[in-house]
Amino acid sequence: MNHSQFEEYQKKGFIVLPKIQLFLEEAIEGKMQESEFSIKFYESDETTVRSYYGFHRDPEIIEWLEKNETLKSICHMIYGNQEIYIHQSKINIKNKAESSVWPYHRDFPFWNVFDGIKENKLLNLVVFLDDVNEGNGALGFIPGSQNFFLEREEKFKEQSFSLEGSASSNLLFDFSDEEVEMLQDKFGHELSVGSKGSILLFDPNTVHGSSFSSENFSRRILILTFNACDNPPKIPLTRPDYLCSADFSPIRWN
Ligand code: SIN
Ligand code: MN
Repeated sequence: MNHSQFEEYQKKGFIVLPKIQLFLEEAIEGKMQESEFSIKFYESDETTVRSYYGFHRDPEIIEWLEKNETLKSICHMIYGNQEIYIHQSKINIKNKAESSVWPYHRDFPFWNVFDGIKENKLLNLVVFLDDVNEGNGALGFIPGSQNFFLEREEKFKEQSFSLEGSASSNLLFDFSDEEVEMLQDKFGHELSVGSKGSILLFDPNTVHGSSFSSENFSRRILILTFNACDNPPKIPLTRPDYLCSADFSPIRWN
């Protein structure tokens, strides 16, 4: 990532990095889904897998990460020499069911309100495990929305935790259709499309959402959420550690 791409990331709150690609070995991709540390979430039919969470707790996955030069150089660009750890890991899958949507939302309220993380020093690094296009549920973003908040968001602090509201189409902290329309009129809207192997970065305060797909088990994306080690969640944790890491030991890049 060069300096102008970094500036674009800061301005828009997201960027699909051109020219950088990351392909995961089959064994690693398989491990993320089948690891004993991997927790499955389902669509509302309770049988179709929607997401896998928490596989970064598997030492084999951490070992893979610490050896990965591409991830190391991107994290270095964002965090410099700050120590960082993985706060959350997931693979999101797109299905035909309407429940496969992610309503428009920000991520930081989950981490701030439920996990007690004080500052937004987090980064979502997304690797496309399949081609991502308009028809299979590409993530849509409101550029610049990471710096614009609605008055009613003040009340988010009072929201109490629910597991379903953290990872389903019935998502807490979502925006109404009217609010999304207003944000789109003000800032525009962009879809993050790209071929398999593409890398997308987004700020957890950027408003984003995605539609369902025309096919089941399509558009898998890996999302690794990094956080600075000096900005940990509040102990005791409110949420299970597959949603909010309990291990803040720094990544030891090889
Ligand atoms: C998606 O997979 O489309 C949504 C991911 C997210 O909101 O974190
Ligand atoms: Mn999100």
